Amino acid sequence: MAKPPASPLLHIGAVGYFGASQTDNGDMRMKFVAGVALALAAVLAGQALGQTAPPADAQRARAEAIFKERCKDCHDPAVERAPSREELAAKTPEAIIAALTTGPMTPVAEGLTPQDKQAIAAYLTGR
Ligand code: HEC
Repeated sequence: MAKPPASPLLHIGAVGYFGASQTDNGDMRMKFVAGVALALAAVLAGQALGQTAPPADAQRARAEAIFKERCKDCHDPAVERAPSREELAAKTPEAIIAALTTGPMTPVAEGLTPQDKQAIAAYLTGR
């Protein structure tokens, strides 16, 4: 081989190939196939990991940040009549969205988008 292999995949393939041609036994060929499969899996996995976080994770992170910023002071731990974090979790997502949109929490939710409220509801209830 004059040139270095262009990629790890080619390298593994080449090693497997020459191994197989020298010994010409089926076991080496199996290793070659397995090596290619592993290399391919690694490449695909690398691509998947290289992508940005899936939307669900991003939403959850945003909801958590909003909760800490706007809600935690009164709800975790709960002050006065405010429901605790556990009591909020027991509510339906719809009830939380309603509280933020037309209910008693409308003022603290000012400026939040419907998506934000949805994300907070999902974050609090796990639903
Ligand atoms: C200044 C304190 C305070 C902050 C900040 C606050 N809450 Fe509340 N929250 C309360 C109190 C007090 C109640 C009880 C209201 C009542 O019973 O009238 C309540 C009630 C609720 C309820 C139940 C409403 C219902 O219909 O019974 C939900 C859901 C809720 N809060 C969610 C949130 C979320 C989400 C945030 C952040 C975006 C938030 N709250 C921020 C004090 C607060």
